[in-house]
Parts: sequence; C-alpha cells; structure tokens
Amino acid sequence: MADTPLSGRRAIVTGASSGLGKETVRRLAADGAAVAVNYIGNADAAEEIVEKIRSDGGTAIAVQADVSKESDVVGMFEEIREGLGGCVNVLVNNAGIEKPFKLVDMPLDEWNKVLSVNLTGAFLCAREAARQMIAADEGGVIVNISSVHELIPWPEFSHYCASKGGMRMWSKTIARELAPHQIRVVNIGPGAMLTPINQDLIDHPEKRKEIEEEVPLGRLGEPSEVASAVAWLVSEQASYITGTTLFVDGGMTLYPKFV
Ligand code: NAI
Ligand code: BGC
Repeated sequence: MADTPLSGRRAIVTGASSGLGKETVRRLAADGAAVAVNYIGNADAAEEIVEKIRSDGGTAIAVQADVSKESDVVGMFEEIREGLGGCVNVLVNNAGIEKPFKLVDMPLDEWNKVLSVNLTGAFLCAREAARQMIAADEGGVIVNISSVHELIPWPEFSHYCASKGGMRMWSKTIARELAPHQIRVVNIGPGAMLTPINQDLIDHPEKRKEIEEEVPLGRLGEPSEVASAVAWLVSEQASYITGTTLFVDGGMTLYPKFV
C-alpha cells in the first residue's frame, strides 16, 4: 500500500464486526494501519471485513474476545502482537451495549453487564495496550468511543450513563498517567448514529423524528462520520490532543430544546 497517514501503525478496534467499529476499522486500514478486528460472536462478519481489507491490499486479522473477560483480553493482545508482528500503537475502545431499565426495575445483572462491557472492557483493553506501548517506547493513541451520555442524562439508561460518564473521568486520568510515555488518550462522544444499536429508531419513523428534533443539524449521523474523526485523532495531525472529548453529535450536546 502506498504511503498513507497511518502506515506503520498497528491498530485494534473492539466490537468491530458491526456499526461504528466496522466502519472505523475499515477506515484505519484504508489509511494504512495494520488492523485487528475484534469480535465477540460474529466470526463470519469479522472474517468478511478482514477479507475485504486484504483484497484491497491492507493487513488485517480477526481476533475473538469478550472484552469484559480479563483472560480473553490478555490472550487477545498476545495474539495481536504475534499476528500483526509487533506491539499495538493504536487502540479504539468501541465495544458497547445498552438495554433500558428504570432504576426501580434494574436487575443487578443488567447493571453489571453494561458496566463490565462498556467500562471494565475499556479498562482491560487499555491496560494491555498501554503495557505494549510502554514496552515498545514509541508512543501511541487510545481512543474511547464514549457518547453524548458522558454529559446528557438519559432516563432508563442509568447504567449506560454511569459507564460513559465514568469513561470521561477514567480517560482524563489515564491521559495524565500515560502522557510521559507520549501516549495520547482521547474520547469521541457520538450522538445518535445509524447503527444496529439504534435499530428501533431506524425501524420507527416517529421515534426517529423525535430524536432528530434533539439534533441541531436535524439528522442522525453516519458511521463514517465517527470513523473519520477517529482516523484524524489517531493521526499525527492530532499530535497535541489528549485528555479531552470530541463530540461527533450534530450539536446534540448544545441543549437544542433550551430557549
Ligand atoms: P453496535 O451494536 O453495532 O456495536 C457494538 C459492538 O460491540 C457489536 O459489534 C458487539 O458485538 C460488540 N460487543 C458487545 N459486547 C462485547 C464484548 N463483551 N466484547 C467484545 N465486543 C462486544 O452499535 P454501535 O452503535 O456501533 O456501538 C459502538 C459503540 O458506540 C458503543 O460503545 C456505543 O455505546 C457507542 N455509541 C453509539 C452511538 C449510536 O448512536 N450508535 C452513540 C454514542 C455512542
Ligand atoms: C446510544 C444511542 C443513542 C445516542 C443518543 C448513544 O450513546 O448508544 O442509542 O441514540 O446515544 O441518545
């Protein structure tokens, strides 16, 4: 592949067999990174992405792991180092889940599941990635796919908001710890995007319209609009950016209903 913005990078994207992760891993590969496509269950979808990247002249491997399980994550990072021929220098923590429950109806198991995948999963992957980055002593970038719900409270999603709000402070804290190693840590806060997590909105025009009214730009976002933000943040063009959140939300965080 010709010289491209991310050539020489080794990147992993978690939850990359669908939605924002899929679009992001394809974009990083198109920009020249060798990529690991993490998936939890859908091996065929991950393999299809890998095959396409390879047929376009890129380098890709598929790696199965449940990011909420420590042994899976430790094993996956070893597999990536071998499979991509060196330490990772880009991690995109993208895997995430949501399922609404009112506080008073929230089963402990559902609370734990969301926190385990969205927050503990990001921690486990960042820890392994940072260990490899520090060992290689060549810096690196960790991007966390957070949400507008880092900031905006969302009834019936208290577990999800706790995970993304937690991700905000966790990310800023590790950004300070890792800065001396020239490792940058940045969150992306998407608004409402056209991905499988929002299938209900996509299938119900009334619900979709209601959400679109919460977005100053008046539409849901395309996965490519997050992928291009990730590609920029992990590139040298964003070399002085760490410890902050870039919202990719059509203005959803601008309190559009406040007059
Ligand atoms: P999605 O449902 O297509 O993607 C989530 C991915 O995470 C799936 O591929 C799923 O298999 C994977 N995953 C779930 N549990 C996992 C685990 N334990 N280990 C490994 N992978 C696991 O939905 P989408 O929208 O692409 O979500 C990606 C991220 O973006 C999530 O963190 C979500 O919270 C965040 N987000 C999405 C927004 C949206 O409107 N679509 C807005 C703001 C944030
Ligand atoms: C959620 C989406 C939701 C969006 C805006 C995201 O974090 O995953 O389901 O549409 O926030 O509320």
